[in-house]
Amino acid sequence: MSLLSVRNLSVTYRGGVRAVDGVDLDVTAGEVVGLAGESGCGKSTLALAVARLLPAGAVAAADEMTFAGTDLSTVAEAGLRALRWRRLSLVFQGAMNGFNPVMTIGDQIREAIRAHEPEIDRKAVRRRVAELLTQVGIASGRAADYPHQLSGGMKQRAMIAMALACRPDLVIADEPTTALDVMTQAQILELIRGLADELGLAMLIISHDLTVLSELCDRVAVMYAGRIVERGNAEEILSSNSEPAHPYTRRLLDCYPRLDSGQASINGIPGSPPDLAHPPAGCRFNDRCVEKLPRCASDDPALHRVPGAAAHFAACHLVGACA
Ligand SMILES: Nc1ncnc2c1ncn2[C@@H]1O[C@H](COP(=O)(O)OP(=O)(O)OP(=O)(O)O)[C@@H](O)[C@H]1O
Ligand SMILES: [Mg+2]
Repeated sequence: MSLLSVRNLSVTYRGGVRAVDGVDLDVTAGEVVGLAGESGCGKSTLALAVARLLPAGAVAAADEMTFAGTDLSTVAEAGLRALRWRRLSLVFQGAMNGFNPVMTIGDQIREAIRAHEPEIDRKAVRRRVAELLTQVGIASGRAADYPHQLSGGMKQRAMIAMALACRPDLVIADEPTTALDVMTQAQILELIRGLADELGLAMLIISHDLTVLSELCDRVAVMYAGRIVERGNAEEILSSNSEPAHPYTRRLLDCYPRLDSGQASINGIPGSPPDLAHPPAGCRFNDRCVEKLPRCASDDPALHRVPGAAAHFAACHLVGACA
């Protein structure tokens, strides 16, 4: 059963920018789901809408948006406080710079635990902080360090410890490794996958880099211009012996060469995504697509099952054409 279930979610910012437009998303207990797509396609907006943290002026509407049986669209602030941290926590984009510089890492994690679990005694909190730091690969003695005493990778580990502080069921991590060098990035991703397996956590991981998601996730969804254009098992979409069904996903993969592909060069995608205040008719990718058909300029493709695949969907007329 779905832990998080989103149906037909749309989010419009002031000025009419429809950053998320009719998105469905499911995350089941213990599952790691990846969300990919170019900058500005609506990934963070989707995460913020789920956590009910959209800025003032943004309007979200959905047919359904539930987390563990709670209706996220209508739950009151008190109900949300009970959910956040304890059941659903977030690691925000760029969050590793969000630590308070004048408090030790240990104190900040302790404070988060006490704020959300006031009934827990001091000794137990101290034990939990030591355990959390160890779990993310930081020696527990470093709890006395201030944020500036930690490297970027360690700060990100500490941020993950913070997100796990109240033992949530789902962690949403928005670009958890973007600011890190490639080696550190790989270590943090390994840590995240290890924690998900060890703790039975469900995760929604947002990243530009599809190759990263393919190694880390059970399922992936690819967004373009506010929509999900392809989704399915990571294995089915991204393993080295299979190809994504949507031309956009294929081009996105070319931007991040796979180590096992032998691909020597990085190919960007010419052009830029459409203005989300005035999206074009037809397929939103059509003006950048080298494989387009005449109908792509006028007919908006819906997500449909890729022939021969059980749970692989793409919104592309080319896929429909061979169905
Ligand atoms: N507070 C805001 N007010 C108005 N428009 C916004 C706001 N935040 C985001 N947008 C717009 O919404 C669209 C989606 O932005 P969002 O940050 O969700 O994209 P993203 O996929 O997370 O991008 P990135 O990969 O760069 O983080 C963009 O066009 C962006 O300019
Ligand atoms: Mg973002």
